[in-house]
Amino acid sequence: MNYKQALTHPIFKIISQSAKELHLDAYVIGGFVRDYILQRGSAKDIDIVAIGSGIELAQQVAKNLPNKPKVQVFKTYGTAMLRFEDIEIEFVGARKESYNEDSRNPIVENGSLEDDQNRRDFTINALALDLSEENFGEILDPFNGIQDLKDAIIRTPLNPDITYSDDPLRMMRAIRFATQLDFKIEEESLQAISKNKARIEIITNERIVVELNKILESNTPSIGFLLLEKTGLLDYILPELTALKGIDEIEGQRHKDNFYHTLEVVDNISKNTENLWLRWAALLHDIGKAPTKKFHKKLGWTFHGHEFKGSKMVYHLFKRLKMPLNDKMKFVQKMVMMSSRPIVLAEDMATDSAVRRLVFDAGDFVEDLMTLCEADITTKNPNKFKKYHNNFKIVREKIVEVEERDHVRNFQPPVSGEIIMETFNLKPCREIGIIKETIKEAILEGDIPNEYEAAFQLMLKEGEKLGLKKQ
Ligand code: CTP
Repeated sequence: MNYKQALTHPIFKIISQSAKELHLDAYVIGGFVRDYILQRGSAKDIDIVAIGSGIELAQQVAKNLPNKPKVQVFKTYGTAMLRFEDIEIEFVGARKESYNEDSRNPIVENGSLEDDQNRRDFTINALALDLSEENFGEILDPFNGIQDLKDAIIRTPLNPDITYSDDPLRMMRAIRFATQLDFKIEEESLQAISKNKARIEIITNERIVVELNKILESNTPSIGFLLLEKTGLLDYILPELTALKGIDEIEGQRHKDNFYHTLEVVDNISKNTENLWLRWAALLHDIGKAPTKKFHKKLGWTFHGHEFKGSKMVYHLFKRLKMPLNDKMKFVQKMVMMSSRPIVLAEDMATDSAVRRLVFDAGDFVEDLMTLCEADITTKNPNKFKKYHNNFKIVREKIVEVEERDHVRNFQPPVSGEIIMETFNLKPCREIGIIKETIKEAILEGDIPNEYEAAFQLMLKEGEKLGLKKQ
């Protein structure tokens, strides 16, 4: 079959010409071909395999390009990369690989196209398009990858036990592709993943997180997390989540399975936000429930303080996985910490002061918090579902109203510490803090407007109560 129409970009003719000048064969391989057939939009990464030196081919291509781009050479891997317009092109010589027990880094020898296709992870990633002049655009599909694309199947070219054991990152990749593409992992492959799960320990956390992020960025992330759980990988990567599995029953009282609930929340939120960190917050919002779970004779199952515990666990989890310990992590912590706040408001009619406090505490993240809490509504009781959603709508409207009137987001006290000190001729002391707190509380309660004059009068009154004298 010919896929010339995939190769209309001028770069392919230039690569073809360059390969001819070096008397070698070259092919487009991997994700570009797969995504073209799946019509996933034009890929910005192109992988070229040369039967010979990939580095020399890259240098020849650069010479033939009008802007003579710089070629980045990775000698140890025998690969080279160049950029043309907004496309990144990677060149590699066809190779045959064998692996060590304790490393992902293979022993590499030169090989044929077939050797190279054999060593690839999945049949759908082993498809190659010929770039030679005579067969330009012919597809080479030794493992029926096209059929697997049609059948929506993830399968390895060789025995899956070997493919996954050779490079255990591929277990994560299989699950990630299944999630992104909504494909099934072939049964034999799935069993090989379960069997090789412990080998995930030789993979760096950074690479695992790349795959986790891609799973979370998919339309239905639960597909991936269910597979990670089913194969046993989740226990190695995110044991905080597997700890949420299961329903306990004491004296006829049960709590919900917080693992499946969490996955529902993640799928829900993914319909409403592309924000990866908000999706992380959804994934982790209940992790504090496992360590705080208790059965109480009168109250039934309780998870007291799980938000606080959970936000502490976020830090340890990010640290363990070598994720950034920056503003993104703080955002996730804040979302986890506040994740139960709006639902309390939605149970009853929210008062203005409760909404003001929410905006005050959540600051610029109040909309994200609302998005998280709406996703958290997984009740199967249609009346409750409707009630919560309606109440959240009202809370959202009130947030806008309160915002316009009271400006408590990123709250700045209308009367500063300096003014208090000047007015009562004070040096720094605890009375200043007390007055400031009284003013803030009065504003949040709605007793006074968030304005200078009203705050100044309250300051005078409170000062008098504290026995302070106005200068
Ligand atoms: N590959 C592999 N084993 C890996 C990683 C990659 O066999 N652990 C091969 C596959 O043939 C893959 C190609 O290298 O198609 C390119 O890898 P990469 O750019 O990481 O993935 P893509 O398939 O291009 O997909 P994506 O860009 O979505 O990651």
